[in-house]
Amino acid sequence: MSTKITWYGHAVIGLDVDGWKLIVDPYFTGNPAASTTADKVQADYILISHGHGDHVGDALAIAERTGAEVISNAEIADWFESKGAKKTHAQHIGGGHQYPFGYLKLTNAVHGSALPDGSNGGNPAGFLLTVPDGKKIYLAGDTGLFGDMRLIGEEGIDLAMIPIGDNYTMGPADALRAVKLLQPKHVIPIHYNTFDLLKQDAAAWARQVEAANGSKVHLLKPGESFTLE
Ligand code: NI
Ligand code: MN
Repeated sequence: MSTKITWYGHAVIGLDVDGWKLIVDPYFTGNPAASTTADKVQADYILISHGHGDHVGDALAIAERTGAEVISNAEIADWFESKGAKKTHAQHIGGGHQYPFGYLKLTNAVHGSALPDGSNGGNPAGFLLTVPDGKKIYLAGDTGLFGDMRLIGEEGIDLAMIPIGDNYTMGPADALRAVKLLQPKHVIPIHYNTFDLLKQDAAAWARQVEAANGSKVHLLKPGESFTLE
């Protein structure tokens, strides 16, 4: 068994877990880094980390077309329901739920979460997913560095996907400190090079991380995949 992870650019992540298709923060329309378009994506589940437009993105259209269930915090799940999403599942920070694709827990993230129309999007979250073979995948969401990443690391992280773009989230220096707290086996940086404002030298960052820590960094181009096995 393996889990295939695809980065579509910015913070858009596709996961294929035993044939279950998940899409996280599906921002395709208006995303200059997107490697595909919202009408081509397959999804059984859509995960939304927080309410910002570059994360909610095309979720409603994808949910409508595919029938996918939208999973997020209670405020955002309710908002999707009010906008016509047929299937939603509300969780909240610290709470986990067993889905066919694994056990999904919402984690802290230090950020904002207002929805595109100004509605209250609750608190921003990250995701800790334990897939059926026991592997643990941490998707940090948009966040600054926080010390309790150490607690998440205590769970034994196989893959961490963390922002390095700076300005709105951790930049490279804090993302390196995050890796030291999380101690993941594999790391994939995201939320960078979408716009000029988020330009980063990911190759230089990867060398720093690998020199400082045992984690293996995988630099994906939008549309490329990594298989966790
Ligand atoms: Ni954000
Ligand atoms: Mn963002």
